[in-house]
Amino acid sequence: MTSTEQSFRIGLLGHGTVGSAFAKALPAHADRIARVTGLRPELSGVMTRSRGSFDELLENSDLIVELIGGIDPAREYLLRAMRSGRHVVTANKQLLSQHGEELWETARTQGVQLRFEGAVAGVVPVIRVLQESLSGATIDRVHGIVNGTTNFILSEMARSGMTYEQALAEAQRLGYAEADPSEDVDGRDAAAKMAIIARLAFDTPVHLDQVRYEGIEQIQPDDLEYARDLGLELKLVGTAERIDGGLSVRVHPIFLYPGHPLASVGGPFNAVTVESEEITEITMSGPGAGGPQTASAVLGDVVSAMIPPASTPPTQTVLEIVQDVVSAFYLHLEVADEPGVLAQVAQVLALQGVSVKSVVQKGLGNQARLVMVAHPVLESRFEAAMELIAALDVMRAPPRAIRVLEEQFG
Ligand SMILES: NC(=O)c1ccc[n+]([C@@H]2O[C@H](COP(=O)([O-])OP(=O)(O)OC[C@H]3O[C@@H](n4cnc5c(N)ncnc54)[C@H](OP(=O)(O)O)[C@@H]3O)[C@@H](O)[C@H]2O)c1
Repeated sequence: MTSTEQSFRIGLLGHGTVGSAFAKALPAHADRIARVTGLRPELSGVMTRSRGSFDELLENSDLIVELIGGIDPAREYLLRAMRSGRHVVTANKQLLSQHGEELWETARTQGVQLRFEGAVAGVVPVIRVLQESLSGATIDRVHGIVNGTTNFILSEMARSGMTYEQALAEAQRLGYAEADPSEDVDGRDAAAKMAIIARLAFDTPVHLDQVRYEGIEQIQPDDLEYARDLGLELKLVGTAERIDGGLSVRVHPIFLYPGHPLASVGGPFNAVTVESEEITEITMSGPGAGGPQTASAVLGDVVSAMIPPASTPPTQTVLEIVQDVVSAFYLHLEVADEPGVLAQVAQVLALQGVSVKSVVQKGLGNQARLVMVAHPVLESRFEAAMELIAALDVMRAPPRAIRVLEEQFG
């Protein structure tokens, strides 16, 4: 430390995958941070379930980094830290997607910084770009691959023909999926991240409960095989978009045409595409998780908090959350191998106003399949058609449907 440098004390809550990587990264970068900020960052204490006291940590810190996860006691610790005038940094998406307004309001009234780049898409700087770089643009739509586990599983299924179960086991073996992967594979983790993204992009309160989500557990290898014939890539995509003066936020598996910027994002990577009239479209991509990667985003937040403030402004408008949206669909039907089947299915689809863009007929006998892509239609109409199709005598198994993103880029 030079004689003119003051120290900046950081209290660390949690010493697991991200916390321990952060504790390692901090001294390794301290010299450079001191040169940039004039303050020397140092770890003033660590608290886990088995060691440390929060009162002591708070007393000895200028900033608290929260990396314990979950709602309680993380929420209480962050509120207490901010009410005591401390800046805070967190990577906790579940907490922000359910109690964000309370936390952001506390940061504003206390005049402290609450930073959370690590909570969404790991090291990809989505939050900073939405809060700062794009604050002069009116955002129309955001699409994101914001869960690396599911992106890895779908990439493996498409690449090797593995079943969902095999690809999940491979993801667990390589450390891309946790022993209990439920929140990743059922879409809830991505939904939490999309709630945070939507809050920032559209300046309106969005709670995790308002995000409709589906996961990838039902995806079959032959969906991916047939999709290849149709020139499509399957991804778990989060969407937040303005619709008729309201806002729709949702997460589901969706087929992309190859020109879409998210179509080529493979393996455990994350990517977010922002669309707006002023900027046309930008895409950011990179590693979505991992200890050292997320710790680097957390450290970036710490440095930002050491320099002048950025804040999440109060919401100006409350947009209505729209639930029924227009989507195109891929439809996979196991049918009886007899004349007139296609005509029956087409009649039901036409009754609900669903028009078909392309059809592939596959197999014979017990293997007979109809695979089609339908033009965009209100989802409620498509769901009604699916119920009617499921009841047809010619069906050999429940119909399977996956959304298709119709937009073409490039
Ligand atoms: N892992 C990633 O790749 C990743 C990526 C992006 C964001 N995140 C987010 O980062 C945060 C941390 O994740 P992680 O993977 O590092 O978790 P982790 O490996 O499970 O570590 C959690 C740490 O928090 C401590 N802790 C848990 N409950 C506590 C309590 N009530 N009081 C005090 N300490 C407590 C644990 O203490 P013990 O050591 O005593 O058990 C452990 O040190 C989460 O919000 C997560 O969503 C993680």
